[in-house]
Amino acid sequence: MLHDDVHSVARAVALLSAGGLVAMPTETVYGLAADARNPRAVARVFEAKGRPTFNPLIVHVPDMEAVAEIAEVSPLARQLADAFWPGALTLVLPSLGTVADLVTGGLSTIAVRIPAHDLSQRLLRAFDGPLAAPSANPSGQISPTRAAHVAAGLGGQVNAILDGGPCAVGLESTILAPSPDGVRLLREGGIPRERVEALLGTPLIADLTPGRVEAPGQMERHYAPATRLVMADTPRPNAVVIGFGDHIGDLNLSAAGDLVEAAANLFATLHAADALAKGQGKSLICVAPIPDTGLGRAINDRLRRAAAPQA
Ligand code: TXA
Ligand code: MG
Repeated sequence: MLHDDVHSVARAVALLSAGGLVAMPTETVYGLAADARNPRAVARVFEAKGRPTFNPLIVHVPDMEAVAEIAEVSPLARQLADAFWPGALTLVLPSLGTVADLVTGGLSTIAVRIPAHDLSQRLLRAFDGPLAAPSANPSGQISPTRAAHVAAGLGGQVNAILDGGPCAVGLESTILAPSPDGVRLLREGGIPRERVEALLGTPLIADLTPGRVEAPGQMERHYAPATRLVMADTPRPNAVVIGFGDHIGDLNLSAAGDLVEAAANLFATLHAADALAKGQGKSLICVAPIPDTGLGRAINDRLRRAAAPQA
């Protein structure tokens, strides 16, 4: 575990340059970072996560200059970038082919993000190259929003974990693909759909079908705790209850009924509910209803996937 100081960033850069894996904080979730130009390093990311297939990875860079070195930026992409970067947005753009093929899974497009978290910015600037980074959790399990989550899930597989504190947004980035007929929404995430639509003045084209090649991360079951999870209005017996607003539970996503707070708490609360269920010998996690607007859409998306039956 590396705490936030000058030495830790230099140490992380040295490990990454040598083809190592470093867990880095971002404002959405912790990422498992590797040098995107080094195919062996990228292969180790898939190995560490135990990913069943070579799903393409998101490439992180510090600024627009660095984006232009890996992707083609259309005027529409530029408009989205200007509005939401640095931040919880990923854009799928035509690739210039300057990163390892394994990063894009052989696609002609590349997913790019400029994160806002101060420590990720300092790491990216010091490394001076693109970092491929999926969420730093074993494949299919709950995403990490604390350094301790990474240590628990992947501790033995990473060369270092940079501790940047709890993630402020707590949900993965919203993934958008600008195209000649409009902007396609590939994953709901930290930037609510409504904010993007307000900027563009047109609706997004929903493209969220699970299992599509475009966004293979959209697997039916994902973000899942070990304990079975259900979304239900009325609590079930022998369940750990996750409440929201007036729905009181053993744990609460946001007692104030605030969706931003609920998003930031979501994955940590799932981790805690799983531990509580184990400790109390309970076989079920029950989650109170969440309004399906703004960030609530992304929260419900993650909960539905966590509740999906095991394949
Ligand atoms: O907030 C986030 O996005 C976090 C942090 C670490 O940046 N990262 C993250 O990565 O959630 P991951 O690997 O768990 O999810 C990446 C998603 C997957 O659904 C993948 O299929 C999609 O991005 N993706 C990557 N490249 C793509 C491409 N060329 N076309 C379509 N989807 C792509
Ligand atoms: Mg993930």
